[in-house]
Amino acid sequence: MTESTRRRRRPRALAAMLAVTLTCDGSASAFVPPPAGTLHSPFSSATAAAAAVAPAAGRASQQHPSQQRRGLLQGGYPRWSSSSSSSSSPLAGSAPAGGVVPTDHTDGWEPRDGVEIGTCSLVGSGPGDPDLLTVAGLRELQSADLVIADRLVSKEILGLVEGELRVARKYPGCAEQAQREIYRWMREGLSAGKHVVRLKIGDPFIFGRGGEEVLVMRELGVEPKVVPGISSVFSAPLLGGVPVTHRGVATQVTLGTGYGQDYARPDICDYHPQKTAVFLMAIGRLEELCADLVRRSYPTDTPVAIIENASTPRQRVIKGTVDTISKVARGLKVKAPATIVVGEVVSVLHGPEQGLLSDAAEGMFAGVDKERVASAAERVAEKKEGLFSGEAGEKVPVRRQA
Ligand SMILES: C[S@@+](CC[C@H](N)C(=O)[O-])C[C@H]1O[C@@H](n2cnc3c(N)ncnc32)[C@H](O)[C@@H]1O
Repeated sequence: MTESTRRRRRPRALAAMLAVTLTCDGSASAFVPPPAGTLHSPFSSATAAAAAVAPAAGRASQQHPSQQRRGLLQGGYPRWSSSSSSSSSPLAGSAPAGGVVPTDHTDGWEPRDGVEIGTCSLVGSGPGDPDLLTVAGLRELQSADLVIADRLVSKEILGLVEGELRVARKYPGCAEQAQREIYRWMREGLSAGKHVVRLKIGDPFIFGRGGEEVLVMRELGVEPKVVPGISSVFSAPLLGGVPVTHRGVATQVTLGTGYGQDYARPDICDYHPQKTAVFLMAIGRLEELCADLVRRSYPTDTPVAIIENASTPRQRVIKGTVDTISKVARGLKVKAPATIVVGEVVSVLHGPEQGLLSDAAEGMFAGVDKERVASAAERVAEKKEGLFSGEAGEKVPVRRQA
C-alpha cells in the first residue's frame, strides 16, 4: 500500500474543512462549513455506516501519462482510458471528434519526478436532496480530501462534505474565469497527492461540461472515475408531478438548453403533439423560449410547467401555457435552478389548474421528507452563516456522528 493510499484510508477525524469561493472579479474568499457531525445525516445509519467504512473504490495511484496510463474498471465505475486498451469505449481518445478540444489547462504544470499525484473523481450530486445522491456519490464525498463543487449544488449536499470544500461561483459573464479557477484548484489538489472530487449538480454529463472536464483531467495526467447522478431532466418533472411520457399522450422526449456555448440562443425542435420538451438553463430566457416555441408551431395553449429547486425545501411548481408562463414566472420571481417542461403531459396529473401549484411545503410528488430536509438545511444555514462567507484559512476539526 502506498503512503498516499494509507493516508486516505485513515479515519478522517482530523480532516479540516475550508471552502473557497470565487467571485466574478476573480477574488477568492473562504468559509468553514459545519462539522459533519452537526448535520443530521439524511441516510439511514446502516447506509451511512456502510459508506463510512467502505474502502473508497478505485484508489489505485495514478501517474502522469508520461509515467503510466491506466484505464481500468475500478469500483464498478469506469475510468475510460485514452490508451488503445479501451479504444472501443465511446470516450476513448483524448480529443473528441468534431467537438470542443480543450486548450492546455496544465499551465505548464507537471508532477515532479517520483512524486505520486493524486486521484480524481467526477461525481453527480443529483438535483439537491441528499436522499437522491447515489451511495457511490456519498462514498466519494466522504473519502475526498478536496471537493470542488459548483454553486448550484445544494447546501444540503455540501453539508455532507467532510474534507476541504471549494465552491466555484459560476455566473453568466464569469463562467470561463470560474472554470479556470476550478482547473487550478484541481492541479493544486492533484499535485498535493489528494483525492479530488469534482462535484456537479445532477448528472455530470448533462449540460455540465462533464466531458470537457474528463479531457482536462486527462491533460493533467489522471483518468477520473465518473459517478453518474440523478439528472434534473427527469427528476425535476417527476418531483413536480409531471410524467414526461404517458401512454396516449407523449411518446417522445427532447432535451434542450436556453443557453448554448458563449450564451448563444440554441435552435429548438419543431412541435409534435406527442412530444414532451424539457429545457434546462432556460429560465433567464423564458420569454424568448416561448417565442421560439410559437415559431416552431407550438399552439399557444400548450401546457408548460416550471419546477424550481426540485427536491429541495425550496421546491416550487408553476404551471401555465406557452402564452402565459413568462408572465406567471415573472410574477413569482422564479429563479435558477429551474427545469421547464412543455407538452400535454404537464396536465395529466395536474389538470387545467394554472399558477403556483405547490411550494416547498406541499410538493405533489415529494420524494423526500421535507421536514427533515428543511431542518438539515436550517442546521447547515446556521453553521455556515450564509454559505459563501467565513474566515480565510480557518480550520475546524471534524466531529463525526455517533
Ligand atoms: C448547468 S445545468 C446542469 C444540469 C445537470 N447536470 C443535471 O443533469 O441536472 C443546470 C440546470 O439544471 C437544471 N437543474 C439542476 N438542478 C435542478 C433542480 N434541483 N431543480 C430544477 N432544475 C434543476 C436547471 O435547469 C439548471 O439551470
